[in-house]
Amino acid sequence: MKTTVAVVLTTVLIATFGASAFPTVHRDHRKRQELTGPNGEPYIHGKWFDRFFMIIGENMDFWPVESQSTFSNLWKQAPNGRLLANYYAATHPSQPNYFDHIAATTFGWNSDSVVNITGSESFTIVDLLEEKGISWAGYAEDYPITQGCYIPYAPEYANGTQVPHSYVRKHFPFISFETIYSNQTRCNNLYNAEMFWTHLEEGKLPQFVYFTPNLLNDGHDTNASYFANYILKTWIDTFYYNDYFNTGALNYLSVDESGNTTGFNTVRGDNNNHIYAAIWGDALTNRDTYDKYDFVRYNHSSIAATLEMNWWGTTGLLGRNDTYAPVFALPYDGTN
Ligand SMILES: *[C@@H]1O[C@H](CO)[C@@H](O)[C@H](O)[C@H]1NC(C)=O
Ligand SMILES: *[C@@H]1O[C@H](CO)[C@@H](O)[C@H](O)[C@H]1NC(C)=O
Ligand SMILES: *[C@@H]1O[C@H](CO)[C@@H](O)[C@H](O)[C@H]1NC(C)=O
Ligand SMILES: *[C@@H]1O[C@H](CO)[C@@H](O)[C@H](O)[C@H]1NC(C)=O
Ligand SMILES: *[C@@H]1O[C@H](CO)[C@@H](O)[C@H](O)[C@H]1NC(C)=O
Ligand SMILES: *[C@@H]1O[C@H](CO)[C@@H](O)[C@H](O)[C@H]1NC(C)=O
Ligand SMILES: *[C@@H]1O[C@H](CO)[C@@H](O)[C@H](O)[C@H]1NC(C)=O
Repeated sequence: MKTTVAVVLTTVLIATFGASAFPTVHRDHRKRQELTGPNGEPYIHGKWFDRFFMIIGENMDFWPVESQSTFSNLWKQAPNGRLLANYYAATHPSQPNYFDHIAATTFGWNSDSVVNITGSESFTIVDLLEEKGISWAGYAEDYPITQGCYIPYAPEYANGTQVPHSYVRKHFPFISFETIYSNQTRCNNLYNAEMFWTHLEEGKLPQFVYFTPNLLNDGHDTNASYFANYILKTWIDTFYYNDYFNTGALNYLSVDESGNTTGFNTVRGDNNNHIYAAIWGDALTNRDTYDKYDFVRYNHSSIAATLEMNWWGTTGLLGRNDTYAPVFALPYDGTN
């Protein structure tokens, strides 16, 4: 990491910091002990968190996102919020970044086309979680079925035209992995997003929650201000004020890749794929405002590495980039 970049960015971030104190969730260990999964089973406890939630926007550079007040406020105001200021996506276009979320590699894939990842390559964090009895689910907006594996690229009208601004398979990685699409029990962990809100209300969220908005809400067919407005209207109450959601939780909001793909791997028009990422929830400890941002060079493989360190006390269990990617520093142990 270039020190000058960190210093400049720190200065800009501090300059935009409000004077008011940010709310914190008081850890309630009793409440954390009582959390149960979709079938009423007790959560398997991790070192730092018992639930990981992630929601993904589309194709935006760091500053267009951070400059939206919804997103600059998120890491400042959400309980124990923090900006991961030096976070990079893996590649372009979208799909391999989503593979990276659950498999800690892009497989060198560079397309959005329908692909099946088969055999031992299709081993993902889902296999790790299930071995340990940790519940998981994927929720997608406009997913054409309530529950199960929907295989096509996108829903279509009767005349064969793709339904616009809707669900697309390239943003919902589970469907592409043989270990999941060939197993009905696992398919049954994939839901239409309506079910997320039901599970939230019932206090039955699984321990790993992956949320994919539709092509309008995630900014793909729109822009950063549309994405911000969607988050503000649909999520902020939950993010800031829902105790259940934040208890024992590490929550994550980011985008799949940067917006300007011109010159990727050549003239770096995409800023090396630098993207916005924020985390919050009571898994985090901020000692002071200087813990509100973290300049470690994270990437999508850090997600698997963090889950592994939390529940297994080690990294690299997928044997891919989860071996090397840095684990999110939760009780911040950096030296500043
Ligand atoms: C992927 O697997 C699904 C489910 O078995 C199958 O329907 C589909 O044809 C396969 N697609 C490709 C591109 O191999
Ligand atoms: C296909 O059907 C949809 C929905 O009825 C309609 O909006 C669209 O214009 C149709 N496309 C073509 C090419 O006929
Ligand atoms: C299918 O998934 C279930 C539950 O996740 C698991 O117990 C089972 O071993 C899997 N079956 C196969 C054939 O992989
Ligand atoms: C984003 O899209 C909205 C329409 O949804 C438009 O009003 C707004 O000007 C756009 N903002 C930018 C920065 O392009
Ligand atoms: C995208 O990157 C290219 C290459 O560096 C640059 O020429 C172009 O101006 C950038 N586009 C935008 C919208 O920033
Ligand atoms: C790590 O990620 C890179 C980029 O996606 C990929 O080319 C490489 O094969 C990955 N390494 C492993 C061990 O999976
Ligand atoms: C992520 O970061 C690790 C550690 O720097 C690196 O080994 C890996 O290639 C990066 N990229 C991906 C796609 O994992």
